[in-house]
Parts: sequence; C-alpha cells; structure tokens
Amino acid sequence: MSSANVRILLTGVTGQVGGDLLPLLQGLGTVISPEEFELDLCDPEATRQFIRDSKADWIINPAAYTAVDKAESEPRLAYAINADAPRTLGEAAAELRIPVIHFSTDYVFDGSGTRPWVESDSTRPLGVYGASKLAGEHALAETGAAHLIFRTSWVFGTRGKNFLLTILRLAQEKEELRIVDDQYGAPTWSRDLARMVVHVARRLQERSALSGDSFAETVRAVQGVYHAVNGGETTWFGFASEFLRLAAVARPDLKLARLVPIASCDYPTPAKRPANSRLNCNRLQEVFGFALPTWQESTAAVISEVLESKSL
Ligand SMILES: NC(=O)c1ccc[n+]([C@@H]2O[C@H](COP(=O)([O-])OP(=O)(O)OC[C@H]3O[C@@H](n4cnc5c(N)ncnc54)[C@H](OP(=O)(O)O)[C@@H]3O)[C@@H](O)[C@H]2O)c1
Repeated sequence: MSSANVRILLTGVTGQVGGDLLPLLQGLGTVISPEEFELDLCDPEATRQFIRDSKADWIINPAAYTAVDKAESEPRLAYAINADAPRTLGEAAAELRIPVIHFSTDYVFDGSGTRPWVESDSTRPLGVYGASKLAGEHALAETGAAHLIFRTSWVFGTRGKNFLLTILRLAQEKEELRIVDDQYGAPTWSRDLARMVVHVARRLQERSALSGDSFAETVRAVQGVYHAVNGGETTWFGFASEFLRLAAVARPDLKLARLVPIASCDYPTPAKRPANSRLNCNRLQEVFGFALPTWQESTAAVISEVLESKSL
C-alpha cells in the first residue's frame, strides 16, 4: 500500500497531542478525525462500528481522561475512557489486523528513587488516573492487536489546558505564585510528540516496504511500551521560572508574579503525584533513532508562539 492510500483514524483531535498530530499526519495519508460528539469512546458498540466503517489502516489514540485530581472522584469515567476504550480499540484492531498507537503516562510509577524509569520497571500508580492508564496499557496489549504505547509526561503546548498556559495567565493576575519544587520530570511539548509519531510511522513504513511484511506485522516486531519525553529534567518550579523568564525577556512590559518554591506537602491535592517522574527514553532512540529536543528548547518555542498569537 502506498503511503498516499493509508487511512489513519485519529481520536482526541480537540486535545493537545491530537490537535498537534492532525496537521502532521495529513502528510502521511487520509486522516479520519472524529470529535467526541461523533465518536464517544465510552460507547464500545458505536466505537467498533465506527472503526469498521472508517476502513482505517491504523488507529492513533491520544484521547484520554486527563483530569488527574477529578479522577479520584470519577473513577468509573476515568476507567471507561482510559482502560475500557483502549481495549475496545484493540479488539477492533485485532479483528481487522491493523495496528494501534496509544499514549500513557509517567503516573503509572510511584515516584520512588531518583533514577529515570525504564519501560520494564515495576509500576505502582499512586492515584486513579495513573491506575486507569496502566489498566489501559494492559487491556490494549491483551487484545493481541499490534501496538505501540508511548508513555509521556507533563504535556504542554499552545492550546488546551496545561500548566504553562495556566501559570502564564495567573502570573499576570497575581503578585505571587507558590509552585511545587520537589517533583522531578520533563515537561514535554505535544508537538514534539506528534513529530515523534510521524517519524516512527515513516520508519515503520520504510521497514515494511523493505521486508515485504505488512505494516501491522512490522509494528508487531517492535511492539510494546516506549518512554517519550523532552530531554533534560526540572521541577514544576524550575519549568515555571524558565517560561516566565522567557516571557519577561520577550515582553518587558508584562508585569509577572514572583514565584515561591514550595514542597508538595504544602500544596495538598486529591491525587498524589510521583516525586520522580523522570523517564529514560533510550529504547525510543535505539529502536527508532529519535530523541525529542530538550524541554528548554521546546519551552522557548512554545512561549514565542504563545506571545505572538495572544494579545497579552
Ligand atoms: N496532559 C498531560 O500532562 C499528560 C501527561 C502524561 C501523559 N499524557 C497522555 O497523553 C495523551 C494525550 O494527552 P493530552 O494532554 O493531549 O489530552 P487532552 O488535551 O486532555 O485531550 C484529551 C482528548 O480526549 C478526548 N476525549 C475525552 N473523552 C472522550 C470520549 N469519551 N470519547 C472521545 N474522545 C474523548 C477529548 O475530547 P473533548 O475535548 O471533547 O473532551 C480530547 O480531545 C493521553 O493518553 C494522556 O493520558 C498526558
């Protein structure tokens, strides 16, 4: 099949990662990109039928329930979207012999230690969101569909709900902001994740063309979990300090709040977060020859786009 004939079913297009994937995937084939009102992933029968009707060759599923704190009081909904839906997608994909590209999270780990987690490390989620995403990883794998699962962390970008956009807004409204400084991880730009998926898909297409194996079988040969985050590490306080510094340099007229570093215990939330969210991305580099840029490079790119596009 030539790449121009590939049909890609993409979920979650109103979200951060789905929204950045949509324009990039259009270079790979025909993208079918339903919004939630056209395809409710909580409805398994409608989802199966939609997939059959779509005649998709691949499924890419960035749709998720991502409200980490709210998940503690809405576990049924979190599990329906994060665990049951990947199972439904996987079952339909297995039946049609097409692969599924799915996303998961650093919150599958308990945050102990300081070493970056590798894919084979033991998981122990601290809250409902992480537990539901882990259940989704297992559910998809159990269906037998060829699959890739990209675990990422601290997603930010120019659209949707994210830490950078929230703090940038609050920093203009308040004198002082208290930000947690004892959780370590890598802020990851949704567009870098989208570029990574396109790179991986192209690599797999090339391998499939060379070997004569189907695309799904080519995916199956390397299937499983991959960690995919921007390079380097910081804390939420370090991240906020950097993007507010960049904003102040670009726009000296903006009056921005002073930041105060605090401990997680001074900012109680319904869901506990891992202290160590560092993810080791060596497997992604070794298998697909791809490394995401550093979080500082991507933060600079996002701040410059946000300041250009918004009248702050
Ligand atoms: N955000 C993070 O910091 C973060 C960190 C680690 C991993 N991840 C993972 O990365 C992936 C992408 O996250 P993201 O930040 O792009 O998520 P997001 O911005 O919250 O977007 C989620 C998308 O899922 C859709 N959705 C939710 N419920 C649905 C349903 N029942 N049927 C169909 N669509 C539904 C939403 O549609 P509506 O807009 O209509 O609700 C939205 O388009 C997810 O797997 C997430 O778990 C995210």
